[in-house]
Amino acid sequence: MRRSLLVLVLVALAAHAAAQAPAPAAAAAAPELAPVTLPPPQTDGGLPLMKALKLRASSRAFAPDPLPLQTLSNLLWAAWGINRPEEGKRTAPSARNWQEMDVVVVNATGAYLYDARTDALKPMAAGDLRPLTGVQDFVKEAPVNLLLVADASRMQGGEGAQPMAYADAAFIAQNVYLFCASEGLAVVVRASFDGPALAKALKLTDKQTVVLAQTVGFPRP
Ligand SMILES: Cc1cc2nc3c(=O)[nH]c(=O)nc-3n(C[C@H](O)[C@H](O)[C@H](O)COP(=O)(O)O)c2cc1C
Repeated sequence: MRRSLLVLVLVALAAHAAAQAPAPAAAAAAPELAPVTLPPPQTDGGLPLMKALKLRASSRAFAPDPLPLQTLSNLLWAAWGINRPEEGKRTAPSARNWQEMDVVVVNATGAYLYDARTDALKPMAAGDLRPLTGVQDFVKEAPVNLLLVADASRMQGGEGAQPMAYADAAFIAQNVYLFCASEGLAVVVRASFDGPALAKALKLTDKQTVVLAQTVGFPRP
């Protein structure tokens, strides 16, 4: 009898202590993520194409400064924006016009899906997931890591679709390279990342695959 009383007291004390404990850091650091409305992309200007091609290069030295929202909007439009609204077609080609690629923006606040139709970033996961986007240290510091994600559910009748998704992602990546060359931004495309960890964090379906990652930011002075 005495023994069961003691157990009851200990359980009550433990419950009280747990109620007083601070919330886990991860939960505290992951508030609800609001959608981001992007300013309409500025689709004029930039360097002449041949000059941008002369400057295109990979860089792995990034300043931590965030990209202005206008620059991000322009970058995403260059990457995978809609350039022929009447047909819904895009700045990069895709096999059979499947448009199976999604561009995911991972910054200090969360991961967002780029919606080219509404110029918006739709929340996918809250918190700073940049460290998950690669194995090189700069991914944690650079303001933006893009993930190029293929969704096989949009590749109907796609025998041998996988290589097509890799080709389609590469076109987007080259658009990003050329935009960055034109704007004086630092950029590197990457295949080094933990795909399963990213899929889990972003709650991807089993039809979605992260094909490439690409880090973008201002060059480190
Ligand atoms: C498919 C692909 C995967 C790459 N993966 C990485 C990577 O994980 N990390 C990295 O630092 N660079 C990566 N790179 C960048 C290459 O190292 C770089 O393009 C190459 O060294 C040539 O340099 P350049 O882009 O300046 O011409 C990758 C490039 C490609 C095309």
